[in-house]
Amino acid sequence: MKILMVCLGNICRSPLAEGIMKSKLPENFFVDSVGTISMHEGEHPDKRAIETAANHGVDISKQRSRPIANSDFETFDKIYCMDTRVYEDVVSKSKNEEQRQKISLFLDSTENNLKNSEVPDPYWGGMNDFEHVFQLIDKGCDAILNQLKTNN
Ligand code: 4NP
Repeated sequence: MKILMVCLGNICRSPLAEGIMKSKLPENFFVDSVGTISMHEGEHPDKRAIETAANHGVDISKQRSRPIANSDFETFDKIYCMDTRVYEDVVSKSKNEEQRQKISLFLDSTENNLKNSEVPDPYWGGMNDFEHVFQLIDKGCDAILNQLKTNN
């Protein structure tokens, strides 16, 4: 099972999702993250994201931002998007129905009131926004793992 996490810049939300998911995953899973824009390509995650993850024992410091590639739609089984804008961008880049079926909104796997909501962009916020985003992503990762276990 190969999982791709997607946000806008690949320096805040999706690196956290990659790191958190990796910390929970059985070994036969593969997880990576990308952005829909290439503005931060090659950069490490935002230092506030690195610090927030480190506060929870998760190391995301070695990740590097990259934009989504056409090949990702073939390589990955599941593509999780952090917000609606990202979701729509990713859907517009998909080439056929099989690829479209792989794409969902990250929090849609949750069963409670988080369903259909977005992981807000913390880039213009403060450390409390990053902590809030960490908690949301942690819940989303648990929900995705439960769903994948149920379906396998
Ligand atoms: P991310 O956050 O999509 O969670 O990585 C952002 C990072 C950079 C920008 C916007 C959002 N930016 O506009 O540069």
